[in-house]
Order: sequence, then C-alpha cells, then structure tokens
Amino acid sequence: MIPNLGEKRMTTELERPLVGQVALVSGASSGLGHACAVALARAGAQVVVNHHPHDIDKAHEVVAEINAFGGQAIPFPADVSDQAQVQSLFAQAKQIFGTVHILVNNAGIQQDAKFTEMSLDQWQRVIDVNLTGQFLCAQEACREFIRRGVQKDLSPAAGKIICMSSVHQAIPWAGHVNYSASKGGVMMLMESLAQEMAPHRIRVNAIAPGAVRTPINRDAWDTPEALNKLLTLIPYGRIGEPDDIGRAAVWLASDASDYITGTTLVVDGGMMLYSAFNNNG
Ligand code: BGC
Repeated sequence: MIPNLGEKRMTTELERPLVGQVALVSGASSGLGHACAVALARAGAQVVVNHHPHDIDKAHEVVAEINAFGGQAIPFPADVSDQAQVQSLFAQAKQIFGTVHILVNNAGIQQDAKFTEMSLDQWQRVIDVNLTGQFLCAQEACREFIRRGVQKDLSPAAGKIICMSSVHQAIPWAGHVNYSASKGGVMMLMESLAQEMAPHRIRVNAIAPGAVRTPINRDAWDTPEALNKLLTLIPYGRIGEPDDIGRAAVWLASDASDYITGTTLVVDGGMMLYSAFNNNG
C-alpha cells in the first residue's frame, strides 16, 4: 500500500507542531515553567531552560527529563530582572540554536504580606521579576523575531510570545497587592505589545492560570483541609495540574492558534466564574 504522506504529515503536525522551532522558557526549573518546557519539547521544539542562577540543579533535572524522551534542551541561568543577564541569555540561545521562535515569559514569584506590613523590597522584587522581567525578555525576543522575519516553512508567524499571567490579573487579591498589581501589569503589557507587534507577524498572548499544583502555592493544597477550602473556589472540582498549562502553551505557540493575538486564555477550572453566585446570588 502506498502510504498517504499528506495524512502522515498532518498527524506529525498535530502531535509535534513545533518541530524545527526554538522555544525559550523563563523560570523553567520548577512549576509552570517546568511543565511548559517539557510540553514544548514533547511538541518538537528545542528548548532553552532558563533558570535563576540559584536553581541550577533543578534546571539540570528538567533538561535530563527532556533528554530522556529524546527531546533537545539546554539550561541557561539568568535573573530575568537584570537586563545584562537577559541579553546574554538570548545571545547564548541564538549562538547555540541559531534563533528563537517562541518565548514563554513565565518566571514569576510571590512575596506575600499584609499591605501595611509589605516592605518596599517585597513590592519591588515582585514587580521586578514578574513585570520588568517579562518586559526585558519580550524586548529581546521581539528584536530577534523582527531581525529574522517569517520563515514560511516553519510558521506563518515570525514569533510567538506567551506571557504567564494569573486569574489575579482580574481577581483582586488581599494580602498579595504586589503580585496582583504585577499580573494586572502583565495583562496590559501583553495587550499593548500584541497591538504593536501584530504588523510584524508576532503573536502575543497570555495564559491566566488559576490554582495549579506547584511549589508557589503549596500551602493552598498540601493538606486535605487546605485543598478542600481551595476547591470551594473551583467549580470544576479539581486543582489544576502543571500540564494543564503546558498543553495551553503548546497550543498558543502552534499554528493552530495562528489568528489569535492579544488574548488571555484563562485556564482555571472556572475560578473566574463568580461561583458565589451559583445559587442565585
Ligand atoms: C497564584 C497562586 C494561586 C492562584 C489562584 C496564582 O496566580 O500564584 O498562588 O493559588 O493564583 O489564586
């Protein structure tokens, strides 16, 4: 039987839609970044696993996990709030892989405190990493996407940026004003950038995760009592798993979402649906 190459090609495109593309994931040594790096590598991308200089061992574990299934990844340290380190991160990625096609702007932290007790340092550090870090990485990515332009055989887009936001870009969060302010900022950074970059065929979107089982919110799920309390906020009745976000990142990076830019994909099991109103308010 003569194989139907058209169908075969389509299957590969569906299963491994990112073959031939280079993805850089910031903060990829744990949590959502880890999940995105693995999911993008499974989808065929070569992945730069960026990590904070302190997290080198965990980054090497992520790279080993990717190599174990035949994926390609390299670790690279950079504090995303430091411009010189971000520039050297992108320079290294280009030197090793030739270019970058996908940025997952993921690195983020929480430093929670009551408002009247929050130090300027706690405020500043969260804004520096969560918001300025996304600005710096997106700027380097856009410069590279514009320099290289569209490679028609790979994708109709010159580049794709996925900003990791949060349901707290919209849900106010007492005790976390630094974090929610940073994510509100990410939303407008993403939308303004999407508008500015669309003529260059650069797509910029965000994912807004709800509660996902990662180290950042361990207190919210690691005892049965905490988890039950958390589940009252999630109509779908389960906590998110990191791969829920990994799959969303692959879709936003792939040509399946080619006409989508400036959008936030909420991945939250319904957390944003005002569940307090589910019994007639
Ligand atoms: C935060 C988590 C929190 C979730 C839902 C995320 O953005 O990082 O700590 O559990 O939002 O509130």
